[in-house]
Amino acid sequence: MAENILSIDTVALDEEKQALKIIDQTKLPGTVEILYLTKQEDIFQAIYLLKVRGAPAIGVAAAIGVYLAALEIDESSYDGFYGRFKKAKDYLASSRPTAVNLFWALDRMEKVVLDHKEESPAKLKKFLHDEAVKIRDEDIQVCKSIGEYGLELIKDGDGILTHCNAGQLATVRYGTALAPVHLGRERGMNFKVFCDETRPLLQGARLSAFEMVSAGVDTTIICDNMASMVMKNGWVKACFVGCDRVAANGDAANKIGTSGVAILAKHYGIPFYVCAPTSTIDMSIKEGKDIVIEERKAEEVTEMWYSERMAPMGVKVFNPAFDVTDHGLITAIVTEFGIAKPSYSESLKAIFEKKKTI
Ligand code: MRU
Repeated sequence: MAENILSIDTVALDEEKQALKIIDQTKLPGTVEILYLTKQEDIFQAIYLLKVRGAPAIGVAAAIGVYLAALEIDESSYDGFYGRFKKAKDYLASSRPTAVNLFWALDRMEKVVLDHKEESPAKLKKFLHDEAVKIRDEDIQVCKSIGEYGLELIKDGDGILTHCNAGQLATVRYGTALAPVHLGRERGMNFKVFCDETRPLLQGARLSAFEMVSAGVDTTIICDNMASMVMKNGWVKACFVGCDRVAANGDAANKIGTSGVAILAKHYGIPFYVCAPTSTIDMSIKEGKDIVIEERKAEEVTEMWYSERMAPMGVKVFNPAFDVTDHGLITAIVTEFGIAKPSYSESLKAIFEKKKTI
């Protein structure tokens, strides 16, 4: 029998091959192909092309990627080593702009180098290895904890709507928005999950639906424009989404279309939960309007997934990859340190205070 996708970690360091090991998500659900990447260009392209995607998974991939770059550095002086490390870090940081986990993980890796100026490059490489593995291992615990808190918000049998993929395929294991479903499933609970297909890259239809079906969850795909009807029918008890960057006031950037789901949820009186590891909360950004939104190629809208181009040549295309959901539309933000409720300017600060004590 083919291996269940859920038994494969989304991102890992292959110690034997000294390679970044990922599932190529552009091929899912048709083909499960594992990639072993060692070259910086290949790791950059894997992130840019969404072979590895989802904010936490991108962070882990970048941490492992910059460790692999460090391995190649043959300088003997600290300054020489740091110069080359910084160049590799900046290169990977330019692969995608919105998910703050990318920068958070790379900054953590850089801090290891900056904190050990007296150490040899050989030692620095060892420390970088350990930090990359730590970032990866932490991700699993963080997602599990988000899942536990998320489970407090729902009950067995509930219908849940999700947008994009903030499941295991977007993290190392469990996911964020789908972590309560995975944990609930492990405990014999049965949720009914509605996956928005998530135009234009279909992370909902290709990835969330695949992940949910693989977990044995009652799963229904809907086109993005069907969410209103499904909510009106009373089939959705809660919406759970992930995020790429949360501002200090609770505004949350996530996959394009998320804010529309939040507006619908408010209209129908359905709670709208954003699941956010603290690595995705950027307290340096005051409000959502200051979050850089990635714009991607027009062809993702006009050609991808169609056997022939479906839009006239020369037409203008607007293809933002993310939008920002206003904090006023968010019922709660579920973190690994607890559930933040409005006002987020206060509750998110409290979450970070709690983080300091643990
Ligand atoms: O463009 P993608 O597929 O990387 O976008 C992913 C999302 O928007 C996810 O919801 C977000 O990164 C959270 S993943 C836990």
